[in-house]
Amino acid sequence: MTIEQGNVFRRVTVSAPGRVNLIGDHTDYTGGLVLPMVVDLHTVVHGESEPGDTFTLASMDDAIPVSIPTDVANPAHVDPPWGRYVAGVLVELRAMGYRVPGFAGGVSTTLPIGAGLSSSAALAVAVARAIFESTGQTPPPDVDLALALQRAEQRASGVPCGIMDQLSIISGRQGTATLIDCHALTVDYVAIPDDIEFVVRHVMSRELAGSEYADRVAQCSLAERLIGPLRLADANSVLDIDDETIMRRARHVVTENMRVRDFADALTAHDLESAGRLMTESHHSLSDDFETSNAAMDAAVEAMLTEPGVLGARITGGGFGGCIVALKRR
Ligand code: GLA
Repeated sequence: MTIEQGNVFRRVTVSAPGRVNLIGDHTDYTGGLVLPMVVDLHTVVHGESEPGDTFTLASMDDAIPVSIPTDVANPAHVDPPWGRYVAGVLVELRAMGYRVPGFAGGVSTTLPIGAGLSSSAALAVAVARAIFESTGQTPPPDVDLALALQRAEQRASGVPCGIMDQLSIISGRQGTATLIDCHALTVDYVAIPDDIEFVVRHVMSRELAGSEYADRVAQCSLAERLIGPLRLADANSVLDIDDETIMRRARHVVTENMRVRDFADALTAHDLESAGRLMTESHHSLSDDFETSNAAMDAAVEAMLTEPGVLGARITGGGFGGCIVALKRR
């Protein structure tokens, strides 16, 4: 028998979900803890790989298709701008030694764009899956793929994002929260009790490119130069930081890491009141100490907290707009 090792070209339909972060925001880029879960909204890529050297995707949401040379060097120059996320994936998979084929296909999504549910990471994961499946190449381990797609997003957007979105989407399981240690890059699954649900409400769109996200990353890195890794710091050591703003940024990160651990324990122990309280405390920390909320997001959280059955609520994701998430009794 002869097994042919030549290039494989196949027609595929692949998808990737968005994610909502239940607790643990702005902790990933200092190697802290996060607890996201995948949502039941997806980005779908369909099409077929082909021998040419152009990667083409038409979008339901844009009249202009993305058409990228498979040897693209600088994703940040691709237009229309959503194509930069596609180009970033091509660059990073090539750098890992994968063959990037020509491709002709389309993309559609049920995720709101720019809403803090990781539509960009879902697009990147779906594109990567389309490349692997349409060429018969074996994907790398989840963590390696997540790191590559994190670099892809950084190249595409210029935003120094952490690993949460990519890793939670790649390793997520529907109906289960994903506890990620962003230093060790380990993933544990936390069951969601049957008698609660998480409600996600879109409040306002936003873009992290051009937002203060990069300033927050820089402020956390300054705090780490002063007192060492924030993932190892305690609430007392942050008080050694003289600069009031940097101290508050560090205090958010340190207390948020503790809240993630306590929240996972509370869910497991079915202590729903504590879990809800921790979410609301997380919101106040993001609003007061980390300053990544705004008046509209704060008002949406306050309104959500008055609704029947709601035990806690918070802004979710990068901030400066986007969605809130609430823990609610069924
Ligand atoms: C964005 C980034 C993530 C993470 C969150 C905040 O979603 O892409 O890496 O930093 O913001 O928790």
